[in-house]
Amino acid sequence: MTAPVSIPSTTQSVNAVSVSHSPKSSSLLHDRLAQRHDTASDFQPKVLHPIENDGLKLLLLENISQEAVKAFRAEGFDVDHSTKSMSENELLEKIGQYHAIGIRSKTKITARVIKAATKLLVIGCFCIGTNQVDLNTAARAGIPVFNSPFSNSRSVAELVMSELVALSRQLFERTYELRTGLWNKQSKGCWEIRGKTLGIVGYGHIGSQLSVLAEAFGMRVLFHDILNIMPLGSARQVESLDALLSQADFVTLHVPETPETIQMISTPQLKLMKRGAYLINNARGKVLDIPAVIQALQSGHLAGTAIDVFPVEPGSNGSPFDDQLNPWAATLRNIPNVILTPHIGGSTEEAQRMIGEEVSQALSRYLGYGSTLGAVNFPEVDLRVISTEEGDRVRLCHVHRNQPGVLKQVNEALSPYNVEKQFSDSKGDIAYLMADIADVSRQDFNNLKDRISSTDANIITRFLA
Ligand SMILES: NC(=O)c1ccc[n+]([C@@H]2O[C@H](COP(=O)([O-])OP(=O)(O)OC[C@H]3O[C@@H](n4cnc5c(N)ncnc54)[C@H](O)[C@@H]3O)[C@@H](O)[C@H]2O)c1
Repeated sequence: MTAPVSIPSTTQSVNAVSVSHSPKSSSLLHDRLAQRHDTASDFQPKVLHPIENDGLKLLLLENISQEAVKAFRAEGFDVDHSTKSMSENELLEKIGQYHAIGIRSKTKITARVIKAATKLLVIGCFCIGTNQVDLNTAARAGIPVFNSPFSNSRSVAELVMSELVALSRQLFERTYELRTGLWNKQSKGCWEIRGKTLGIVGYGHIGSQLSVLAEAFGMRVLFHDILNIMPLGSARQVESLDALLSQADFVTLHVPETPETIQMISTPQLKLMKRGAYLINNARGKVLDIPAVIQALQSGHLAGTAIDVFPVEPGSNGSPFDDQLNPWAATLRNIPNVILTPHIGGSTEEAQRMIGEEVSQALSRYLGYGSTLGAVNFPEVDLRVISTEEGDRVRLCHVHRNQPGVLKQVNEALSPYNVEKQFSDSKGDIAYLMADIADVSRQDFNNLKDRISSTDANIITRFLA
């Protein structure tokens, strides 16, 4: 049996309930509120344990932070940690003994690996993307996959702020000149960003963070998004991309790569931009038509650009960034007031730490409480925590194929008991049901487990108590 898995945030949010007492309120209402307050502050979430897994084994690869290792060990997991990734063959040999695996982007979890992972319950991608995992095969095997898609939003927004200033002050040109021994003090074509208009394309996690930072610098912020979004501060949503392009002194892109956003900034859009404007792309490499941007820079229509993401990027550090990779690379490298960075928008210590915390918590919450909130390939299901005062409860976590009649079968099995809470949802072929059941004896539990796990749609049935 593994040691408790704790979820501090849930406890805090429950304990945080507070009630203000008005001297004029009727005593009945007052008493009721006070009672609620007392109940809330006494609330203790029950820590659940997987009933049948005797010691959950966790494999952490690719140098996932020592904090995560310590946290998992403190929760009772038996953790194997490696600084390296594993090849498919190495995984095929080792994966069968583990209940959970944490990886970054280099380890590939293929269909063959998933087939060999007979005990695997969950996969944590300690990074932004999940392309390295065969998500459909994992879902069909009843294995949710968690990642951390938005932990680096602030890091990207801060990089853009620095680029706004660096472009408008020609900072990289001056630095380059001085490094090569040339003193060239000048103010021509150098501007403050205060009072200028920033046009943000895509007002999601990054775009909205940036909006707040830019206003603090005294910028006027306009944004364009396909959704109607409540602006932050004094920012203003404009009706079209064209309207944004024609008004902004700086345009910055923060959209995902979709069929609509590929090459969304090309020659016609660049022509709409003000002469002397600046363009920044930290989103995805394909949203910019880079040869068109080169022409706009060479003609002087654009005063500068900062690009962090490219249509084709080198696979590893130390690789060349040249014309073999992208045919315009050498030309772009030689244009003044162009800032080129190797996809580092989200690469900060803080973002790495947040990724570690977020994915570790998701793994613990799934293994200990059954919650799939935030899973990329799975229906998102959760039940509120069980209080220590709620007596003997057993939590059923039942992953099954999404087909007619399953709930009927499961509920027939549960019908002799009091089902306190139940929630199920489906995504594609996969459905997931959680239920809290009261007063189940050890013997009843064994019967229940046999009955539910032998239903024809069953994929994985777990009980937590
Ligand atoms: N450079 C880096 O290191 C780095 C790091 C993190 C994220 N990113 C990239 O930044 C981009 C934005 O990330 P996010 O976390 O803010 O995403 P998000 O999903 O939170 O926001 C994207 C926004 O773009 C909007 N949008 C979608 N299609 C649009 C269109 N055609 N026109 C206008 N708006 C549109 C969406 O409605 C949404 O509000 C993504 O492409 C992401 O991959 C890059």
